[in-house]
Amino acid sequence: MKFFIDTASLDEIRAANELGVLDGVTTNPSLIAKIVEDPDNFTYADFKAHIAKICEIVDGPVSAEVTTLKAEEMIAQGEELAAIHENVVIKCPLTVEGLKAIKHFSSNGIKTNATLVFSPTQALLAAKAGANFVSPFIGRLDDISTNGMELVRQIVTIYDNYGYLTEVLVASIRHPLHVVEAAMMGADVATIPYAVISKLANHPLTDQGLEKFMEDAGVIKP
Ligand code: G3P
Repeated sequence: MKFFIDTASLDEIRAANELGVLDGVTTNPSLIAKIVEDPDNFTYADFKAHIAKICEIVDGPVSAEVTTLKAEEMIAQGEELAAIHENVVIKCPLTVEGLKAIKHFSSNGIKTNATLVFSPTQALLAAKAGANFVSPFIGRLDDISTNGMELVRQIVTIYDNYGYLTEVLVASIRHPLHVVEAAMMGADVATIPYAVISKLANHPLTDQGLEKFMEDAGVIKP
């Protein structure tokens, strides 16, 4: 299973990368907005420069999202973003227009991540259009009393049925149990916020056991 970090923060990306288990990065316009200090003077060139910095830190796919609703404009933006670095993956919303852009990119060797996916039919379309990744937003489904993990199960089954190569990238992860469930279902990737990544290694019995071992080894006083 691949672990991506879901953030645009360079500090968080560096910290997660130092753990040695990071395979890629996903960003979106909301995550980018969080790292912008002066929104009035943040240009598209600044956005591209930020994506380039992320690519320098992590040797793996880096999703950069288009910020327009029309396929033609998504294609123009996506081609510009793809030129930043070979690891850039163009994140397109799974709308009718987004689907056209995904098809264009997949036919022209540009990698894509179909985002804002909330149904199995959207995921099926993403695979048929040749998306490299599909991003079901499970936390946002849970937020409206709909089982987000059930969508992951459906997508994994559908893709297995037909041998689609599109990787299931579980997004909108809110807690470690989401990561466990995604792994149990055979999802290819989990994109995880830093706060959740930092919880994955924690266990109170590990802390308790370690304290006792350190005491018995004379490293710390009881
Ligand atoms: O990157 C997209 C996704 O992970 C967003 O998560 O927490 O805003 O629903 P969230």
